[in-house]
Amino acid sequence: MKRIFVTRRIPDAGLAMLRARKDVKLTVYPKDRVIPRKELLAGAKGATAILSLLTDRIDDALLDAAGKQLRIVSNYAVGVDNIDLAACAKRGVLVANTPGVLSNAVAEHTFALMMSVARRIPESDKFIRAGKYKGWEPMMLLGSGIQGKTLGVIGLGRIGKGVVDRAYKGMGMKIMYYDVKRDPAFEMEEQGIRFSTIERILREADFVSIHVPLLPTTRHLIDAKKLRMMKKTAYLINTSRGPIIDEKALVTALRKGVIAGAALDVFENEPKLAPGLAKLPNVVLTPHTASATIEARSDMATMAAQAILDALDGKVPPNAVKPK
Ligand code: DGY
Repeated sequence: MKRIFVTRRIPDAGLAMLRARKDVKLTVYPKDRVIPRKELLAGAKGATAILSLLTDRIDDALLDAAGKQLRIVSNYAVGVDNIDLAACAKRGVLVANTPGVLSNAVAEHTFALMMSVARRIPESDKFIRAGKYKGWEPMMLLGSGIQGKTLGVIGLGRIGKGVVDRAYKGMGMKIMYYDVKRDPAFEMEEQGIRFSTIERILREADFVSIHVPLLPTTRHLIDAKKLRMMKKTAYLINTSRGPIIDEKALVTALRKGVIAGAALDVFENEPKLAPGLAKLPNVVLTPHTASATIEARSDMATMAAQAILDALDGKVPPNAVKPK
């Protein structure tokens, strides 16, 4: 009997779809933790489909361990940097991801981070809980305004566009964007939405938000030199992948006041943080939860499950990822 291997429990909506398929055995890794490598290799053995998470490395060794019958790896994430796409393609194994269904959640979270760091919300919360609030003060916890400021968006995919939409319509922000694929239809120079280079964005934007996938070309895209290009008053927000920013260089920049602050949902060596990062007052940190809404996670589960059902039926799912 064919087998589907799910590497960690995901929302029931997705699991129910897989369970309903009576000609296939469903195995879900039973422990609520990142599956250890050895158990991942063992669980994949003989599977026709694997539903993986971004914390699972899908490489040659895993594909060899799984065996020739493996038809699809369906990743419960939009990012696929945990998967060796070329190795999958070489073996004729399909790869699917979950684009679109988490864009609103991530755009909202990006905005929440931006507002939190600019208005010093976590610092204020800590201050009041520590009993330090003794009454209104004219100079207490001053932050930066957002209305009318310039937002630089690096990466104009679905999420980047969602952030622009909220910033432009909701906050009257001016927008500079960079993407490898320029989108002239999206630009409205006169109304304040324009294409730019990364360097120019870094020099001019008040807020810089990263929305590119992790690729060899985007690793450490923001390094010490690029951080020095930013305004002293600017904030850096990252909800894409941690290694896009040189985290050690960021800690130094934040410590020395090279930039005003940062808000991060992703980290270079998750779940570890660069030494000193968590001690800085001018940084807001969330544990890779930008897509963590009930709605998005449930839709991701059904999308990932549907891709497996498609592959079992001999179809190529619409969300199949092409090797780069
Ligand atoms: C993704 O989907 O790639 C996010 O990082 C997690 O939801």
